[in-house]
Amino acid sequence: MTMNDMTRFDRDEAARAILARNDRGGYTVPTDRLYPFQWNWDSAFVAIGFALFDADRAYRELERLVEGQWDDGMIPHIVFHAPSDTYFPGPEVWGTRHRIPTSGITQPPVFGMALRQVHEAAVKAGLPQAQERTSALFQAALRSHRWWLRARDPDSLGLVAILHPWESGSDNSPAWDVALARVPTTTTTTIRRKDTGHVDAAMRPRDEDYQRFIHLVDTYRDCGWDPQRQWAAAPFKIADVQMTAILARATADLMHLAETFGSAEERTELSDIHRRLLDGLARRWRPELSRFVSLDLISGEDVDAPTQACFMPLVALRLDDVQRKAVTAEIERWHQGLIVGLPTTPSFSPAFEPKRYWRGPVWAVVNWLIADGLRLNGAEDLARRIEQGTVGAIERAGFCEYFDPTTGEGLGGDAFSWTAAAYMVLRRRAGSSGAGAEAP
Ligand code: DGY
Repeated sequence: MTMNDMTRFDRDEAARAILARNDRGGYTVPTDRLYPFQWNWDSAFVAIGFALFDADRAYRELERLVEGQWDDGMIPHIVFHAPSDTYFPGPEVWGTRHRIPTSGITQPPVFGMALRQVHEAAVKAGLPQAQERTSALFQAALRSHRWWLRARDPDSLGLVAILHPWESGSDNSPAWDVALARVPTTTTTTIRRKDTGHVDAAMRPRDEDYQRFIHLVDTYRDCGWDPQRQWAAAPFKIADVQMTAILARATADLMHLAETFGSAEERTELSDIHRRLLDGLARRWRPELSRFVSLDLISGEDVDAPTQACFMPLVALRLDDVQRKAVTAEIERWHQGLIVGLPTTPSFSPAFEPKRYWRGPVWAVVNWLIADGLRLNGAEDLARRIEQGTVGAIERAGFCEYFDPTTGEGLGGDAFSWTAAAYMVLRRRAGSSGAGAEAP
């Protein structure tokens, strides 16, 4: 039976079956072989998917991720719970010193957003110990938000910086082209790519990207993974509007949880963090471009390459009428002539490559966040169309890692966990009115 022959009920079952198949003992790998460990933001999205039908398992996903949290609060981008030789770079390249092996960088903090949804699902389901579990995870999230502000916004810009493109989750986005070109291609680590043994090389970053990615890993490992030394040594440092927006939205969700689980001081602290991030984001609006732009902290220049990141502030900010009209018109323009949107790079950009990872393909979780932000800003119709388009793309092509916007073809890894979670969540949202976006 193909995806097209299935009923929606069957497809929901198929999505759950992917999560079951990618379960490695309370945590979910993004997909077999290509990504054989626990990834930070993948797991947060997956937890939201689990919350729809199994709140206990949703908590487990977050609890297993927190096993990798460092003493300084950082939640790493990969937790290497069990060995695998199908991925590069493995724990020996990172050389970190946590009690279980992890990478040394982080990823978008969707964790706080997920925790709120998992908690609400657990309470609704009457799950025993929900209060204790949420309380412990709330403290972990708070420590990680403190780390973000301390380690990645030391100059109080109200914007948090990434020191490696992998931190953004959008590894080879055109947003990094200018800044990444300044990073040398020399490495002390021998590069042994495994990804191109699993997926067509034309859908993955280029070798030269990997040389620069690994140069950065070598540089930060040489700093002993100390945040201050890394900040001083970083040849790549971008105050990223996508990361800041997700952190701001997750902070709003923690503020909500803090009403029950936080002290008075923690509530004040979270609301100060929230204000600082919203102010920082608001300053990155560029009316002449109809979008928000990141800031290259090394050159001092705006990052004006158009990518999905430019719309991510919608998940956190309330736009004024002029901004809302401009953003929705721009998002509509990016959809023109495509089979499925939203492309991560628009087709009118010279950098657009419809099959190459973050240089054009459509990602279900990006659409999930952007639709959430549109709905939060009153653009219900566009939000729903993006959700319906995403659900349709998955029903036609399967639970793939990403989709070619010009053909709808499924690309990258298959049986992908966060695509399965996105399917279950977006299918419910696309058919309902006003559901799914909660005001920060
Ligand atoms: C990869 O290896 O492709 C990942 O995106 C890094 O996290």
